[in-house]
Amino acid sequence: MAQRENFGSGLTAMFAMAGSAIGLGNLWRFPYQTGQDGGAAFILIYLIFSLIISLPILLCESAIGRSSASGTFGAMDKLAPGTRWKWLGLLTVFTPMLLLSYYSVVGGWSVGFFAESLVKGFGADASSRFSVFTSHWWLPLVCHTLFIGTTALVVSAGVKSGIERFNKISLPLLFVLIVLIAVYSTSLPGSEEGVRYLLKPDFGKLSPRVFADAMGQSFFSLSLGVGTILTYSSYMKKETSLLRAGAGTAFFDLLFALIAGFAIMPAVFAAGIEPGAGPGLIFETLPFIFGSLGQAAPLLSRVISVLFFLTIAIAALTSSISMLEVQAAYLIEEKKFTRGKAVLLVALVTWALGVLCSLSGKAFSVFDYTVSNFLLPLGALLFVIFAGWKMPREMFRSEFIGEGSRKGSGRFFGAFLFMVRYVIPVAILIIFLTNFQ
Ligand code: PHE
Repeated sequence: MAQRENFGSGLTAMFAMAGSAIGLGNLWRFPYQTGQDGGAAFILIYLIFSLIISLPILLCESAIGRSSASGTFGAMDKLAPGTRWKWLGLLTVFTPMLLLSYYSVVGGWSVGFFAESLVKGFGADASSRFSVFTSHWWLPLVCHTLFIGTTALVVSAGVKSGIERFNKISLPLLFVLIVLIAVYSTSLPGSEEGVRYLLKPDFGKLSPRVFADAMGQSFFSLSLGVGTILTYSSYMKKETSLLRAGAGTAFFDLLFALIAGFAIMPAVFAAGIEPGAGPGLIFETLPFIFGSLGQAAPLLSRVISVLFFLTIAIAALTSSISMLEVQAAYLIEEKKFTRGKAVLLVALVTWALGVLCSLSGKAFSVFDYTVSNFLLPLGALLFVIFAGWKMPREMFRSEFIGEGSRKGSGRFFGAFLFMVRYVIPVAILIIFLTNFQ
């Protein structure tokens, strides 16, 4: 069998994981959710959850991936052969397929809007451009096809020359772009209101729902429960510190979400509009803002709109690449496909499901609801239970205590294991129940 590829260093492995984590979740969901759910109070809870719940889940997935040096299905098969855990392996081949199908539709919109901002710019008609864009059924389909096609191209080039190389360039670029946009946005007259909307702590808004939102958002944003972190970690060298790579991923994901908040909300308030939710915020409100600001400084606002949609497209791509890789790894390792064929097959199936989402808003929302509220927390729960209860304890421990980790990490392992075995599964179950209320 061909030698399994690895990421070149701990840093590039972290770049790939952070690339997966940073995506549409940071750009449209986080700013909106923060404003709606209590500003700084929400950020604080989000931060605490990310550290004590999400980061340990990420480390569990990482440990399973690296110790088995296999994709999701192979990992279950190696570490718990002949058991029903193989269903978890299969679930995490299916979930990213469903997720990618509609994620790619939104990715396609950002490609379409990138092209529109480049070619036409946004004028007085800006806020209706999204409905005009989606009213031509074929246009979003073409963009979805381009988006999946680009994703497939990168993944087919392999772990090192495709995934690693793409993330190594994209991640720093994303940070430069989002900082530029945030600087522009916060310098607009009237933008202070947006900063206040994000930061004003409103503890009165805290409710069980807000806690569940914070956890759901944190899972989605860190790409947990889908097998992407597991698969990427399986390409990590033994000397890479899992803890450092995982903590780095969480740090950059959070930093990006915060800067994205400062890129978006101040502009929304400067234009004097109510912040909208979801795709509407990015594809209706922002073009309107770029359009109305365009009157004062046409060139600058044009440049910013181009950069903004470029940022969304690249951020979405670095995430979609990780979703496709999970599925491709399954076919390559378990079904002995060549990389090229595996990528072609999963890209085609995902593309077809995406066509369904592009044409039917109903399919889109059913897929999104099923993945975000059900499959993703279920995957996360099962990975944590697997790592805490099923995986040989010494093997789990050695992932953190072995080469590349700091001296003394052993002392924390007991506390970590306690969290993984008892606290985190209960916390995930609670979100589940809140979601079904
Ligand atoms: N974390 C990505 C985002 O914020 C989405 C994602 C979820 C990617 C699960 C991979 C796996 O957009």
